[in-house]
Amino acid sequence: MTDNQNNEGLGNEEEILTNRQGHPISDNQNTRTVGDRGPTVLENYNFLEKISHFDRERIPERVVHARGAGAHGFFEAYGKVGSEPVSKYTRAKLFQEKGKITPMFVRFSTVTHGGNSPETLRDPRGFATKFYTEDGNWDLVGNNLKIFFIRDPIKFPDLIHAFKPDPVTNRQDPNRIFDFISHTPEAMHMITWLFSPWGIPASYRFMEGSGVNTYKWVNSDGVGHLVKYFWIPKQGVKFLTQAQAEEIQAKNFNHATEDLYDAIEKGDYPEWEFCVQIMSDDEHPELDFDPLDPTKIWSPDQFPLLPIGRMVLDKNPVNYFAEVEQAAFGTGVLVDGLDFSDDKLLQGRTFSYSDTQRYRVGPNYLQLPINQPKTPVATNQRDGQMTYRVDGVEAGENPHVNYEPSSLGGLKEAPKSGKAHTPYVQGPVIGQKISRTNDYQQAGDRYRTFEDTERDDLILNLVTQLKRCNPDIQERMVEHLTQCDPEYGTRVREGLKQGEENM
Ligand code: HEM
Repeated sequence: MTDNQNNEGLGNEEEILTNRQGHPISDNQNTRTVGDRGPTVLENYNFLEKISHFDRERIPERVVHARGAGAHGFFEAYGKVGSEPVSKYTRAKLFQEKGKITPMFVRFSTVTHGGNSPETLRDPRGFATKFYTEDGNWDLVGNNLKIFFIRDPIKFPDLIHAFKPDPVTNRQDPNRIFDFISHTPEAMHMITWLFSPWGIPASYRFMEGSGVNTYKWVNSDGVGHLVKYFWIPKQGVKFLTQAQAEEIQAKNFNHATEDLYDAIEKGDYPEWEFCVQIMSDDEHPELDFDPLDPTKIWSPDQFPLLPIGRMVLDKNPVNYFAEVEQAAFGTGVLVDGLDFSDDKLLQGRTFSYSDTQRYRVGPNYLQLPINQPKTPVATNQRDGQMTYRVDGVEAGENPHVNYEPSSLGGLKEAPKSGKAHTPYVQGPVIGQKISRTNDYQQAGDRYRTFEDTERDDLILNLVTQLKRCNPDIQERMVEHLTQCDPEYGTRVREGLKQGEENM
């Protein structure tokens, strides 16, 4: 929703109903029929227009993260990264000045199930943010948990198929989930977080966010640094136990959407601090993991979380479909001073988002108000379904010239904004895992770091689901968990043998 769209028509008694051709509708109650009991006639344009538009009201829902809630807000920069000037690391304009405001739109979501599924399920939560910066849009498409199940994007469709309902029974099945996971050792870290209390955030307001993937910051000398992004809720972090979640779910499928909407309506605006971790842009052989591996956390003791700004959500959408359902976020949407790293998962994601959005919303999805930047857009892209405007003509482009280069008054390339970041890469083209996989260390560290109650909850949740799996799947899972921490594996094995009451 842009500022020029508002609710002006709401409640105006004088507004009259028309169809989309602008024809006034004087009878919206009766179709035209032959006599009052005869058949309906086909020339009934108003009825046909109304019903055929209705027939097309739905677009495909997101293949993942279909269930979500959104809100508008703003980002305020601190002008520093920790105690250092931010310009040392990035030239991205939105961070440079203390107090600089950038409008934002955010969509929170669950991952696995459909658009109307309960918001109480154990599932990662999406935390997708769009910054409408003066250099165009920047999207940071994150989750609440800080890591991911896999590190190679080629596995993503399989991961999602295993978590989605069985194609025959249409039911989610732990036997399918853990069949896949038990063949995916790099998932043990994520599973340890997901089956702990962190797997069910109390609501969207009380969860952290994380970019998960490793990105880069580039300064005006073209020097890059590796960065990870985090959102820390000022409201605090809260979770639901499985039992609490089930109690809510029995009465309410929408508790998280409700909580976010109601808080904003009341003026109790949720707020998050935005932080980064920074590493020099190299392989870091001293670490026992690869900094480009999204299944790993960078220890905050070694790489402290440095605050760079805050986000406040202060406005609810006026129309859910236009603003939330049609919102399109993607990891490729970066601005000058922000860059990709060679994290393979990030690179795979970057193709997937805009690809699915051209299918889900349409090829001109970026002309919709929610996705459009708040800066001028001037391209030579033309036509396609639902073209809304000719971008470039308002900027003074000769409307005959939709190509570049030209001397007839077409668009010109922008000047370079700083020294280019030009990483040098060399190597054979191969399909191979990274060398420092270290799949179990951080999962074990996490197990050991949890408080007793969190560990008990983790074991209970895992055993409950694993009990519904075949013995060979249970055995493979116990072997993996034992490698994370011998006690972790033993407790799950005992739980499977003895029943929940003895765990
Ligand atoms: C949504 C692909 C990993 C966070 C989506 C969508 C696709 C997708 C196709 C639907 C987008 C749409 O219809 O607009 C992938 C692929 C991944 C991957 C291929 C790995 C190879 C991740 C990771 C995160 C993440 C690691 C978290 C850091 C999200 C979020 C959304 C989303 C938050 C919802 C965006 C919204 O609210 O519209 N993903 N994803 N995904 N993904 Fe991923």
